[in-house]
Amino acid sequence: MDKKLRVGVIGATGYVGQRFVSLLENHPWFECVAVCASPRSAGKTYAEATGDRWKIDRPMPEYVKDLIVYGTDNIEEYVKQIDFTFCAVDMKKDEIRELEEKIAKLECPVISNNSANRWTPDVPMIIPEINADHAQLIEAQKARLGTKRGFIAVKPNCSIQSYVPALTPFLGNGIKKISVCTYQAISGAGKTFETWPEMVGNLIPYIGGEEEKSEKEPLKVWGSFAGDHIELACEPVISAQCYRVAVQEGHTAAVSVSFEKKPSIDEMIAAWNGFESEAVKLGLPSAPKHFLQYLEEDNRPQPKLDAMFENGMGVSVARLREDNIFDYKFACLSHNTLRGAAGGGMLTAELLTAKGYITAK
Ligand SMILES: NC(=O)c1ccc[n+]([C@@H]2O[C@H](COP(=O)([O-])OP(=O)(O)OC[C@H]3O[C@@H](n4cnc5c(N)ncnc54)[C@H](OP(=O)(O)O)[C@@H]3O)[C@@H](O)[C@H]2O)c1
Repeated sequence: MDKKLRVGVIGATGYVGQRFVSLLENHPWFECVAVCASPRSAGKTYAEATGDRWKIDRPMPEYVKDLIVYGTDNIEEYVKQIDFTFCAVDMKKDEIRELEEKIAKLECPVISNNSANRWTPDVPMIIPEINADHAQLIEAQKARLGTKRGFIAVKPNCSIQSYVPALTPFLGNGIKKISVCTYQAISGAGKTFETWPEMVGNLIPYIGGEEEKSEKEPLKVWGSFAGDHIELACEPVISAQCYRVAVQEGHTAAVSVSFEKKPSIDEMIAAWNGFESEAVKLGLPSAPKHFLQYLEEDNRPQPKLDAMFENGMGVSVARLREDNIFDYKFACLSHNTLRGAAGGGMLTAELLTAKGYITAK
């Protein structure tokens, strides 16, 4: 790429926003030139606005410290600075929907981590290694919005980003039913143990809205492009339980699954270790060389040991064994604020740049 695309981050002061700001340091294709947050942060430097709320395990990059934060109440000025934006905000769903559509109509592509537009029929919900072809929906969306270059693309919920990748190689086997229990890190709620001390040594068997997302969103990701919408996959039926656990980073899932045509254990492990992705073939900078790995040890995957596999962009699977009720059960893990949030958003932006949907203004 001759010249880097100019990008901004909305929600830059939050947990996912901080991940974006970090990932954009020295990015080969994108340069972060603007940051945006609530009107409370507007007018401050990024360092002042974020202050002691910096939560991630790397120092705040120098490039961002003196950028003046825009407020979402001044979105027109923010949009003028950039070629496209990431968006990860804690606002009401209808406000987010309105904000994202307004930005798209200002002819600025939005790569969103929020759930507000995931079920808008012509908004693609993308995991680049799985359903890159859903990007075609953008044409129908632009026609609806009346835009030339503005659109919204979203990534799915962090909870599904271990078991959906792990099961994708077996769609041809007819996956009939899945029972999944997720064990989700506190960073998924934008928290650390300092800001959520009640979680030390604790577990909460409820995360608002998460079970519904975990059961429904895979059907859109596995659905098929149908012009102006995605025809949802009619199988498998999914039952999910989502627990918050005392882990800082990394969502684990315990999965039980039944197939129409049951693959062998050797076939499953070979499919995981040999998974080839279009993201790597396209040379996307954030694409993990190995999207999936199978670990032979009985006590893996563990968030502390495995969440950072492939810089937090790979998915680790282990403990595949026969089940008494389903065909098989296994455990899998992905990094929730990298693969499940900012890293997934970055890879989607790279995919849409490679495919010509995101360009310089
Ligand atoms: N954490 C994860 O693992 C994860 C994974 C996938 C998706 N997500 C999604 O990503 C989004 C952000 O999550 P997070 O964990 O990063 O939350 P967070 O740490 O609470 O950050 C929230 C951000 O939203 C901004 N904000 C709050 N009210 C606003 C308003 N009225 N106008 C504009 N900006 C406003 C905040 O700005 P101020 O600093 O100015 O208040 C801050 O930058 C959510 O939709 C969440 O569901 C999170």
